[in-house]
Amino acid sequence: MSERLTQGPRIEYEGAPIKGELISSEKIAAKVTELADRIYEDYKGKELVLIGILKGASRFKSDLMAELGRGNKKTGRKPRNVKEAHLGTSSYGSEITSSGDVKKTLELDTDIEGKHAIVVEDIIDTGHTLKDVLEYLEGKGPASLEVCVLLDKAKERQVEVETKYVGFEIPSVFVVGYGLDFDEDYRNLPNIAIVDTSRI
Ligand code: PRP
Repeated sequence: MSERLTQGPRIEYEGAPIKGELISSEKIAAKVTELADRIYEDYKGKELVLIGILKGASRFKSDLMAELGRGNKKTGRKPRNVKEAHLGTSSYGSEITSSGDVKKTLELDTDIEGKHAIVVEDIIDTGHTLKDVLEYLEGKGPASLEVCVLLDKAKERQVEVETKYVGFEIPSVFVVGYGLDFDEDYRNLPNIAIVDTSRI
């Protein structure tokens, strides 16, 4: 028997040092649809692989892949196939500012040689992670390589990186949720929330 889903109670994160919401889950979902529409148009007839940068981008990458597989009747987008790849990096540890020292925690797990690749990231802040990732991936011989990032903290940029697809430009606040963490916590929040840094 199938279960009828209804909206549950509002989730309270007891004791979490969170000031408030920055981007609702509804706004994120609408943005994922919009990005999928653009990617669909740009990659018609091309073999496409989405490379999720673990761990932060795993949720965004999954939702984007599912959206591309679903299609969009409103815009005439048809369901399409994409391949999935992962690469693991870490630069923050338990700090709230990037160390600039990007460590690989997982090697690229899928061959991208000759394929059109999009790096999917949750956030670009200083730019060190994406710069390092793009240099590494260029060496794997993709037919093309672009970036799709959900959040852009543009004022914090230290190194230049070209980002073709950007979801939201955000202010210089520390955010968690929808895959983003503070010291491995709060990745499972459904929205993007602002951390009260005076309480951590
Ligand atoms: C975060 C985020 C990006 C990076 C962005 O990853 O997911 O990959 O920082 O910051 P930057 O532009 O200043 O380099 P983190 O190193 O915290 O690892 P995680 O994805 O496992 O959370």
